[in-house]
Amino acid sequence: MGSYPYPPNGLVEIDYEFILIFKKPGESKKVLKEVKEASKLSKEEWKEYFSGHWHFGGAKQVGHEAMFPEELPLRLIRMFTFQGDTVLDPFLGSGTTVKMAIELSRNAIGYEINEGFLSLIEEKIGLKDKLPIFAQHIEIIRRKNNTFDVPKINYIPAIQNANPLIKPSELDKDTLFKVVKILSEDKLKLDNGQVIKFLGVIIEKPEETLNYLNQKILGEKILFKNNNDKKSSENFILAYVYLKNKLFINGYLIKSGLAVPELGISHKLYNKYIQFWKHAKDND
Ligand SMILES: C[S@@+](CC[C@H](N)C(=O)[O-])C[C@H]1O[C@@H](n2cnc3c(N)ncnc32)[C@H](O)[C@@H]1O
Repeated sequence: MGSYPYPPNGLVEIDYEFILIFKKPGESKKVLKEVKEASKLSKEEWKEYFSGHWHFGGAKQVGHEAMFPEELPLRLIRMFTFQGDTVLDPFLGSGTTVKMAIELSRNAIGYEINEGFLSLIEEKIGLKDKLPIFAQHIEIIRRKNNTFDVPKINYIPAIQNANPLIKPSELDKDTLFKVVKILSEDKLKLDNGQVIKFLGVIIEKPEETLNYLNQKILGEKILFKNNNDKKSSENFILAYVYLKNKLFINGYLIKSGLAVPELGISHKLYNKYIQFWKHAKDND
């Protein structure tokens, strides 16, 4: 939610997806009159399907994590194919597209790389309970080998996963990174996808700390030092964090009473943390 409930860094929720429509150039094929009639849309369906925005809910995710609602392939198949045409789904998943194609009297071909989804696909398409109707027309082909070698490409995804991209030991200590998100009162996300957790501090006042981080640290350039003997998790790096002007943020959090030192762990600045803490208590 970004800086919720204060401006200026609220995040807009992207709760929609685009459908991209591509068409091969060339003449449309001739279609028999009766097939055309059988594939006709009503006026209401046409208005609804060809409007720029669709509103319908998602599918309940059981057995697969990314299933379409049936309404989605149903509309697209009815909009762009005639009965008897062939629909290709290169990423079958649970088989929703093939199921709808069959129900709409189209042929269908689906590819799925993960054999674990086979029984789900069979169940969805109806192989198990509707055997006499569909079985003679449905064929499952298992590929034994890759039919071609996929060439290696130098691809770096735009959305990075949460794992550190560089091993902490390989970090250039003076590289500056921009803070792009305050993930919680003790974790920052950097512009290279890494997540940094303040080393050795326990946040005492989460709400005030979040305000401070959102107001003063979000969007700023920081450098961080990882204490190599302090183990970092796979998903974040435990580190001392400094602003470009060398303000030591971990220390500031303790000095200002927002955090206290994590007791009983050893790291280079432990004694310094204790001094900051005493200083904060004296000034309280
Ligand atoms: C987003 S899901 C599709 C869900 C589907 N629309 C449904 O409603 O169930 C994408 C599927 O593509 C499969 N997949 C990924 N790469 C593939 C590949 N190279 N060949 C075939 N299937 C692949 C994945 O295993 C996954 O099940």
